[in-house]
Amino acid sequence: MSEDAEPRRRRPRYSGPNPRHFAHKYKEADPSKYPETFQKVLASGKTPAGAHRPIMVAEILEVLRPAPGDLAVDCTLGFGGHALQILPSLLPGGRLIGLDADPFELPRTEQRIREAGFGEDVFLAFRCNFAGIAAVVAKTEGRAPKIILADLGVSSMQIDNPARGFSLKHDGPLDMRMNPNKGLPVSEVLPRSNADELKALLEENADEPFAERLANALAGRRLKSTLELANAVRQCLSDRPADARELSVRRVFQALRIHVNDEFQVLDTLLKALPGQLAPGGRAAILTFHSGEDRRVKKAFETGLKQGDYSEISDGVIRAGEAEQRANTRSKSAKLRWAVARTS
Ligand SMILES: C[S@@+](CC[C@H](N)C(=O)[O-])C[C@H]1O[C@@H](n2cnc3c(N)ncnc32)[C@H](O)[C@@H]1O
Repeated sequence: MSEDAEPRRRRPRYSGPNPRHFAHKYKEADPSKYPETFQKVLASGKTPAGAHRPIMVAEILEVLRPAPGDLAVDCTLGFGGHALQILPSLLPGGRLIGLDADPFELPRTEQRIREAGFGEDVFLAFRCNFAGIAAVVAKTEGRAPKIILADLGVSSMQIDNPARGFSLKHDGPLDMRMNPNKGLPVSEVLPRSNADELKALLEENADEPFAERLANALAGRRLKSTLELANAVRQCLSDRPADARELSVRRVFQALRIHVNDEFQVLDTLLKALPGQLAPGGRAAILTFHSGEDRRVKKAFETGLKQGDYSEISDGVIRAGEAEQRANTRSKSAKLRWAVARTS
């Protein structure tokens, strides 16, 4: 499975009652060792450090209808939140294949799912990009999946860990790769970029209204940390109100993250592969978090319906209910679409 090992580091200890820094939250980040702390943080309505709360679980189960004997593929295993909800319904006789590009989180999730009682007969984990779904299914199974789920973007564990370089909250190396062993980090992409490319990328990946100004300010820059990038954006837009500046900081981070992970291209590859991968009558559900992703899913599902690859697709998007949106702010921007493969 994962050939990438995380370097061992000494854990910074914290003796106070309310740790604020990610590295000090080691108790809530380790549910098997400190279950009470983990549950306490969950009960307070927060997402424990190093964890991820699955979004729209009830809606996804209703859409995917997992049943005993089914083969399911979770293209974005993450913390295993959705997988752990789907797995019991596949028994007896079914199996879930979990894919994730992240070499650090995947082994932890696999261990957590094993500890929950799911052996290799019912659960397999692969570190791989979901663009390679066809090869994984072909090498592990002699049948097509009845269920395919993709919950796009990054997990809370990735965002909250400053060392991964996605974080706006805490300073960290400017990286943003889901698989840090592949491709280039943002800190190496920016110095090689020119203003035209960067402008196009900010517009295409994040609909950034100040794309030209920001591209001129950022292209070719050698920025090493997430805070340096955030401050460079703030400085460039210093004549704008603070809330507009912060929105641009978020959009610049999103655009660069999409770029270094090639997110649109791999999503397009997955969407193209989906109808051919699903078993007849099989069901796919995709959770998206911004318009660039949703546009692609909508178009691919509509095209698939017209071409007869799908017999049915969702009529519009399904959104998280009010209670979930209140309890988990990350669910606010989530949009769920589904499609059913033709039966013959
Ligand atoms: C939003 S999280 C999924 C959370 C998961 N559904 C859960 O309930 O715990 C997205 C995950 O997908 C992974 N990911 C994103 N794009 C991917 C891709 N193209 N191939 C494989 N994994 C990907 C990320 O590394 C991250 O772990």
